Amino acid sequence: MPTILVKSGGEAAMPEWQRHFAEFAPGLDVRWWDDAGVAPDRVDYVLAWDPEPGRLARLPNLRVIFGAGAGVDLITADPGLPKHLPLMRMAPAGATQRMGEFVCWAVLSLLKDARRVALNQAQARWKYLDPERTAPEAPVGIMGLGNMGSRACAMLQGLGFPVRGWSRTRKTLPGVTCFAGAEEFDSFLTGTRILVCLLPATAETRGILSAPLLAKLPQGAGLVNVGRGSHQNLDDVIAALESGQLSGAVLDVFETEPLPAEHPIWAHPKAIVTPHMASLPSRRERAEYVAQAIADLSAGRPLANLYDHARGY
Ligand code: NDP
Ligand code: OXD
Repeated sequence: MPTILVKSGGEAAMPEWQRHFAEFAPGLDVRWWDDAGVAPDRVDYVLAWDPEPGRLARLPNLRVIFGAGAGVDLITADPGLPKHLPLMRMAPAGATQRMGEFVCWAVLSLLKDARRVALNQAQARWKYLDPERTAPEAPVGIMGLGNMGSRACAMLQGLGFPVRGWSRTRKTLPGVTCFAGAEEFDSFLTGTRILVCLLPATAETRGILSAPLLAKLPQGAGLVNVGRGSHQNLDDVIAALESGQLSGAVLDVFETEPLPAEHPIWAHPKAIVTPHMASLPSRRERAEYVAQAIADLSAGRPLANLYDHARGY
């Protein structure tokens, strides 16, 4: 019987993983990551978010590594990662839907100044706010037009936002003004009122949300970061919020997670902070996605959504 080791949600989540895998892949032996009863040479598959460095290399018969998330940077950070094995990123339909919902919520929150409304409510202040723009007057720019970004584009359009997108290679998406590469980045930014980062963490994208980029946005722009904490220079984001270059920010990801309680961004009156929750597909959705991939592999069909070591995502 093939065996999968799971490291996602802790040992307490195992009964739930086992229940879902029993539904979608009844022939699979589903074990906790540190189950002492599983010999390393018995492991065929791994489903993990943050395997400790060196561990994957000690599984001699491993066939596929399934990332528990769309971003697999905590897996590729392992210097001993067996690079010859397929590393599959998570992209069930529920994940992209959830991300689209979160991005719509974040963008509408900026448009409606929801942070100020919440602060007023906390002080029982009945104060009218009069948003300057409506959705059709607030172009949203999405950095990263992959599984997550393209779904967010379609959902934002449904709300009436003009949508622009930027990616490494050129994309064609219905109704979206698409920009590609470094040479078109400035034109993308100057026409963007609310910027959304949905890039993967790579050497090229590290620190991209810092002062030079923020200065290219129109004054009073909004920022949503749902990519990775490594994308943003938090001091620069705070400085832009204080100078008025940014009117507000919704930040879901941070270089250090959990974000330390004493960090000033928690209490910033123009920032909404969320605990890396933009898109967390259910365990059932993820088990179904992995079970389908294992079935594809057995039938000799190619695996989708593989991490590419040369691109870095
Ligand atoms: P994909 O790999 O499907 O898409 C990545 C997109 O980024 C592609 O359009 C790619 O361009 C673009 N890109 C990559 N590098 C560059 C670059 N240097 N310049 C311009 N564009 C670039 O990833 P997903 O959409 O599945 O996920 C994106 C990221 O979102 C994840 O890596 C993760 O960091 C984050 N995420 C966060 C979550 C959260 O809860 N906060 C949940 C899920 C994901 P091209 O199309 O040309 O390849
Ligand atoms: C992911 C995440 O990459 O949740 O899936 O951040």
